[in-house]
Amino acid sequence: MTLSKDFLILFGSQTGQAESIADQIYAKCIDMKLDPRLCRMDEVDKEFFIEKETFAVIVVSSTGDGDPPENAHRFFRKICRKTLASDFLSGLEYALLGLGDSNYSTYQGVPKKLDKTLAGLGGVRVLPRGEADDQVGLELVVEPWCDQLYEYLAKRFECSKDEKQIATATLADSADLEIVKDVLPGLESQLSSITMSNQDESGDGEAPSNVIPHLGIEPIPFPEEGVSLIRGSPTITADHNLRIPVAPQSFIASAVSHEKFDSTSTPWQNSDHFPGQHTPPVEARVVTVSEISADISPEEGKGKRLIEIAIQGDSPDVDSFLKDCDAGDSVYFVFPNPTKEVDFILDRLGLLALADNTLKLGVDPKSEKRDPKLPAYFPNPASLRYVLTHCVDIRRSPSRPLLRVFAEHANDAEKRRLLELCSAQGVAEFTAHVRQAGLSLVDFLIAFPSVKPPVDRLLELLPRLIPRPYSVSNHQSRHGRRIRFVYSCLKFPATTGKQYEHFGVCTEYLKSLQVGDTVQVILKEPSKFRLPPLARAGQPIWDIPLLLIGPGTGVAPFASFFQKLLAHKIQHETSGEGPLPQVKRYLFYGSRNLSEEFILKDELESLSREGVISDLVLCESRVPDSPHQKYVQDALRLRGKEIVDFITADVTPAPLIFACGDGKGLSKDLFACFSELLQTHLGKTAPEAMALLKQLKDSERYIEDVWSSGMSTPIARAAKTAIKSVTVDATVAKRPKKVWPNFFLTFRVRNQDIVTAVDSLYAALLETNVEFESKLVPSRALHVTLGVGRFENDDELKTARQALTDAITAFTATHTKPLEATFHGISNFQKRVLFGSVHPDSDPGLQLLYQCISKSFSDNSLALLDGNRAFHPHLTLAKLQIPRDMKMAKDLFQHRNADHIFGTEIIDEIMLCKMHMDKNKDEFYQVLHTITLPKL
Ligand SMILES: Cc1cc2nc3c(=O)[nH]c(=O)nc-3n(C[C@H](O)[C@H](O)[C@H](O)COP(=O)(O)OP(=O)(O)OC[C@H]3O[C@@H](n4cnc5c(N)ncnc54)[C@H](O)[C@@H]3O)c2cc1C
Ligand SMILES: Cc1cc2nc3c(=O)[nH]c(=O)nc-3n(C[C@H](O)[C@H](O)[C@H](O)COP(=O)(O)O)c2cc1C
Repeated sequence: MTLSKDFLILFGSQTGQAESIADQIYAKCIDMKLDPRLCRMDEVDKEFFIEKETFAVIVVSSTGDGDPPENAHRFFRKICRKTLASDFLSGLEYALLGLGDSNYSTYQGVPKKLDKTLAGLGGVRVLPRGEADDQVGLELVVEPWCDQLYEYLAKRFECSKDEKQIATATLADSADLEIVKDVLPGLESQLSSITMSNQDESGDGEAPSNVIPHLGIEPIPFPEEGVSLIRGSPTITADHNLRIPVAPQSFIASAVSHEKFDSTSTPWQNSDHFPGQHTPPVEARVVTVSEISADISPEEGKGKRLIEIAIQGDSPDVDSFLKDCDAGDSVYFVFPNPTKEVDFILDRLGLLALADNTLKLGVDPKSEKRDPKLPAYFPNPASLRYVLTHCVDIRRSPSRPLLRVFAEHANDAEKRRLLELCSAQGVAEFTAHVRQAGLSLVDFLIAFPSVKPPVDRLLELLPRLIPRPYSVSNHQSRHGRRIRFVYSCLKFPATTGKQYEHFGVCTEYLKSLQVGDTVQVILKEPSKFRLPPLARAGQPIWDIPLLLIGPGTGVAPFASFFQKLLAHKIQHETSGEGPLPQVKRYLFYGSRNLSEEFILKDELESLSREGVISDLVLCESRVPDSPHQKYVQDALRLRGKEIVDFITADVTPAPLIFACGDGKGLSKDLFACFSELLQTHLGKTAPEAMALLKQLKDSERYIEDVWSSGMSTPIARAAKTAIKSVTVDATVAKRPKKVWPNFFLTFRVRNQDIVTAVDSLYAALLETNVEFESKLVPSRALHVTLGVGRFENDDELKTARQALTDAITAFTATHTKPLEATFHGISNFQKRVLFGSVHPDSDPGLQLLYQCISKSFSDNSLALLDGNRAFHPHLTLAKLQIPRDMKMAKDLFQHRNADHIFGTEIIDEIMLCKMHMDKNKDEFYQVLHTITLPKL
């Protein structure tokens, strides 16, 4: 009997990342000669019946406030039905990869919930759940998780040796490997030619103009040394065995005719629905545009602007838009990609002359892709200009499959670097220099001038252009067809490989709009961020006590809440039913400088006078000696007891907390702030406070709408640092106690080469100053700290041991090669610590280990004290105390040296150690628990 190789690959995806990963898994499985079916979760009970499946690979993300993507709702509704028997899915085995962002307090909310629900219905998970974090780069986890999945599939479906080879190798085909080797010898000179092509090529006489056509900018040269987008680390450039994914199968074959294409009657994106879309696009006229505050500076942007539109026409779509739009909802603006960038791309592809001709898209009959389909969001016919302007996202960072295809259409030197970036070994460099650097397609094409891919390949691999949503900041009950928005002008500087300064793509469009212009808008599916929340739809709103926290543009949706409340008040008063009861409604709002930027000031102040807002609490962060607190968190702390009493009051209706704003860090920071308040004012332990907050979230009493726009990561980090550094007036609020760690997680560094290298470095240091002696970490006690924590009692310690064991199990299930740390270079932290740097090549394994540890500790309700910070593995060599050792610092830190080579440690055990204790005779700390990593 032949073994059936049929199984399901299921995805739930809001912005397309889970979908694209599921696509890649599907393609790989086809190569392995398996019979997967690829389905969206909302195809449940149409294309698949989950209760009839025997095996499913599931990729799902979280959106909103830990909510399922819109195309997963139907599936969740089905499996969350209370009436299902506990063996409903007893025939199902599954593998689950979750995507999320650790800046959200509901990190991995959906995958966790799904895992629990499937298990509760009898499903059996066959691999550790993957938790990919968009904050640090999804690839760091997706890649090893998929490798593990393919291994598993090869075993499960008894793949032949050849098929298994595809599963385990992810290797480039031999032709590629040839080139990988061939280009090595001349790499240095070829790389410098890339650099040169980005620089002024003059040399004799007058410099030729280097201005890039259509963009009118000059390319910014990359640094001549060090790792950058165009130059890999010494290890990767010397690697003869790059593990390179096979290029995705092509499947589009387009043809351009001589006729011009008329796009006037082309429905936007072929009327294809996207996740999150509630109505089709409707037309609106711009009726107001105004500046609320100026940009901070020409480079930084961040000014706030207001735009008001009036919905036009009468049609069922317009009716449903107007009927369904309520307080808390958002509206998508349909926008085009910037013409300059589209022209540059078309020109690079050699297609500018044909850009407006009629383009016929078809599936390539020769394609080997199974079941190839044209994306439904391309109108057909269209024109190249139309699809590049309206259908594909040219600003999102190019994916690794796209780089893989670019490599096939580049000269040899650029090909080598592109293959490095999409290789397994290049994940960390890709994450740092492409994804986190926020490079766009245009940045990339400028940096790699020889890349000239066929347009069909671009159309296959660029993600769909999704309109950007903006929160409605007024209420129809008062404004009918007029809808108002407040937006922040996002600007990105030309740094970290970005070739030109630009506004966010929708920001730029919104800024360009004038009164009288016509726009297309789409109502977003409602989320729980509504007044009243969806779960309480139809219930009276006036009585609900509200704590609303909306720094910056986050205040916008609260204006719609208040207008709805005001309309209710007016209606009640005019009906002669007597006065309404007084209800507490806090609004915490903050800006940098209230006199320069106070969004909807007059309106909020008038609402405050009307009693619709009972407490308008203002904060400003950039005004020295301001009478206001700096950040909303500080203002919450200042009223800590009052806030805790308010949110925990046992009253009906129960008070609701809403938080909204830009910057994902807000979500985690507020959560931490509330947790701290519950501990300080209610005597809760940290796990109890966390459980209480989680309960508030689950019961939809603590609801967030936090978006990330712009360089959210650095902003969030900066905000976090600022919040930490702020001191609250001790006379009015209890200063949060500094919590000192008493345990740490570590691995020791005992490789004799490293110890010898450290000893000789120490000898050299002591030659310059004998006083360093007491500051040096003895070479017998060298170690790398993976995390610190405070565990108060035996129970917590027991849990910590278990958490470490679980973490290592999860880690070794995903990381199936030896864990190494290569120490290369001497650096220092804030003039306090001298350390050996961990080379980026060994960093991904350590990052994954750290993620597994912090996840397992948080799953066990134990927090790592540095859990919010980015993890920088390092080998501490010397520690100074500031200001006492200030004088020594200058001498010590002049020993920085990026080229110092220590060696590579193969890590074989991870330990939990006590911190403040006499070191034992081995000159190391007391080890309480050790886990040995498997020998590989
Ligand atoms: C439900 C919801 C409601 C919202 N409401 C509002 C609102 O009321 N007001 C408001 O101002 N915004 C709001 N937003 C945010 C808004 O939708 C947009 O995300 C924001 O305006 C940025 O869009 P953009 O096209 O201008 O920027 P984009 O061009 O999309 O750039 C922003 C994102 O792209 C990436 N990126 C692009 N280029 C770079 C680069 N060069 N460097 C680094 N990163 C880069 C970043 O990851 C960044 O997150 C809301 C978002 C959501 C989800
Ligand atoms: C508006 C918004 C809300 C989000 N909310 C969460 C969240 O609550 N928890 C989480 O882990 N990730 C959250 N994320 C991060 C996404 O899950 C993550 O970026 C993921 O890679 C998106 O995958 P998708 O494109 O398949 O939807 C959110 C992202 C956005 C844009």
